Amino acid sequence: MENYEDLKLLLNEVFKERHIDFSQYREQLIQRRVATRLRVTKCHSYPEYINFLKHHRPEMDTLLDTLTINVTQFYRDPRVFQAIAEKIIPRLFADEVIEKKEIVRIWSCGCSGGQEATTVLVLISEYLKQDINKPRILIYGTDIDKLSIKKANEGIYEEYEFKDLPAGLKEKYFLSLGNRRFERKKELNPFLYFREQDVVRSEPVKNVDLILCRNLFIYFKRELQVQCLEKFYRALNKGGFLVLGLTESLWGDSAKRFTEFDRDNRMYVKV
Ligand SMILES: C[S@@+](CC[C@H](N)C(=O)[O-])C[C@H]1O[C@@H](n2cnc3c(N)ncnc32)[C@H](O)[C@@H]1O
Repeated sequence: MENYEDLKLLLNEVFKERHIDFSQYREQLIQRRVATRLRVTKCHSYPEYINFLKHHRPEMDTLLDTLTINVTQFYRDPRVFQAIAEKIIPRLFADEVIEKKEIVRIWSCGCSGGQEATTVLVLISEYLKQDINKPRILIYGTDIDKLSIKKANEGIYEEYEFKDLPAGLKEKYFLSLGNRRFERKKELNPFLYFREQDVVRSEPVKNVDLILCRNLFIYFKRELQVQCLEKFYRALNKGGFLVLGLTESLWGDSAKRFTEFDRDNRMYVKV
């Protein structure tokens, strides 16, 4: 195992260069990911790799890409999206709610290539029978990774990314480009706002009705999770929903400020 102090030096280099602070991410995960870059670049130690980085500028992008793990897909963890469709969306769009509400805001934090945000929009569209103009729906997707946001904005996906999406939805909401590639239909774009944003360093989206932050906390140390949960609490409207990943949960004071809405699917409500 590599030396901790050397790992810190490496993470300092990343911070100096890109202003991304990985020091509060779980060390084991970071070490495992960096180890793959050491192997590929044939470096034998962190100091050697730091030196390599200084002389091979594109390696910094590759390292960041390795450290921000972007695996995702449409309708990931189907039972969670089923619960979103059956229990959360009907509440967000209940007649008595939208009578008084002009905008419904949703935030997919750590959105990767936009698959999660787009899945939610597709489910809302299905629920509203494609009449998605009233109330105004704003779905924000934020991610620290530049390439993921580029992909989210382009809206072009490979066939395997749709494998869990219920039958018919891919054909209804995406255009085939041939070669097993599909493009999000243009009519979905006005509802989706993707931007590069570090959840740790930036101000949260405000007045949100639903936050999805799934499979991001698994990479964070507990203090950082607590810090983010505070942010989510401030970002949410009263009665707003928070959905975490299936292996994630609330910590610290946040556990008292949210009530469980669906324990099995890691869904909470701001009280
Ligand atoms: C494993 S993906 C999860 C994608 C999706 N939420 C899901 O559950 O399938 C984790 C995403 O979090 C992003 N991420 C990591 N650190 C972040 C940070 N500090 N702020 C915002 N996004 C971050 C990564 O770039 C990656 O795209």
